[in-house]
Amino acid sequence: MNIIRTVASLKKEVRYFQLDNQSIGFVPTMGFLHEGHVTLARKARKENDVVIMSIFVNPLQFGPNEDFERYPRDEARDTALAEEAGVDILFLPSVEEMYPDEPSVTLTVHKRTNALCGLARVGHFDGVATVVMKLFHLTEADRAYFGKKDAQQLAVIHGLVDSLNVPIEIVDVDTVREPDGLAKSSRNVYLLPEEREKAPAIYKALQLVAESIEAGETNIAHLKQKARRVLEEQTGAEIDYMEILSYPELESLDSVSGTIIAAAAVKYKNARLIDNLILPMKGSAPCFAQ
Ligand code: PAF
Repeated sequence: MNIIRTVASLKKEVRYFQLDNQSIGFVPTMGFLHEGHVTLARKARKENDVVIMSIFVNPLQFGPNEDFERYPRDEARDTALAEEAGVDILFLPSVEEMYPDEPSVTLTVHKRTNALCGLARVGHFDGVATVVMKLFHLTEADRAYFGKKDAQQLAVIHGLVDSLNVPIEIVDVDTVREPDGLAKSSRNVYLLPEEREKAPAIYKALQLVAESIEAGETNIAHLKQKARRVLEEQTGAEIDYMEILSYPELESLDSVSGTIIAAAAVKYKNARLIDNLILPMKGSAPCFAQ
């Protein structure tokens, strides 16, 4: 595996792969890799000649009171995991390399942000879209791999690619979970032992939505109420949101129809966790995220 830290060296490698007609799969990450990232890399490995992974904690997507400084970093461990997953090029730029000056152009996302995490994290998805677009240009990848755990991010990235005709295929990859159902996340390391024990109830609440729909419930308010009760009684966390919306548009609904997302965010002492289930209803058109 080749570790590259500069834009110039990455461009050189990419040019070589293209001259050689090799397909490029790209896995963008912020590091502190876990099984979710490894799954993305393995899938990219299977489907492409070359796999590029980036590790870059992007300051543009963190608000002033968020955890940019505190975001977990472990380059040595990440390097070993990336190599094991079959990554060919690990791109590890510094902030100065990615943003040598204050950017004169950044992207603004107009849809799919006025809900879920977008409400509390104003400007977050503008920062994500901007860095992802830069990384797409730098890697010139054929395919990019994103996890469904960040379902709103995935909806925004699909919107970005569609709106700006970016010549790349976005591959949606299922959420990887611990055996007890907790979605894998770099932020799980911040959970206190008693919080870690209760956190799987987030997934339980979402599963209850799926089961209730399966049993015939269609009223969104009732479904949200049921899920909220599980979150309140079993997670031991403060509920940030428990929403059921259309997907990928992320618009409000009164009753279940089309593809929907049940999504929750809860706050523990040192970590805010998110999770979701994307549920295509019978008879609805297939959704990209399934
Ligand atoms: O999901 C992430 O880790 C980040 O938001 C991403 C896509 C790498 C952009 O910084």
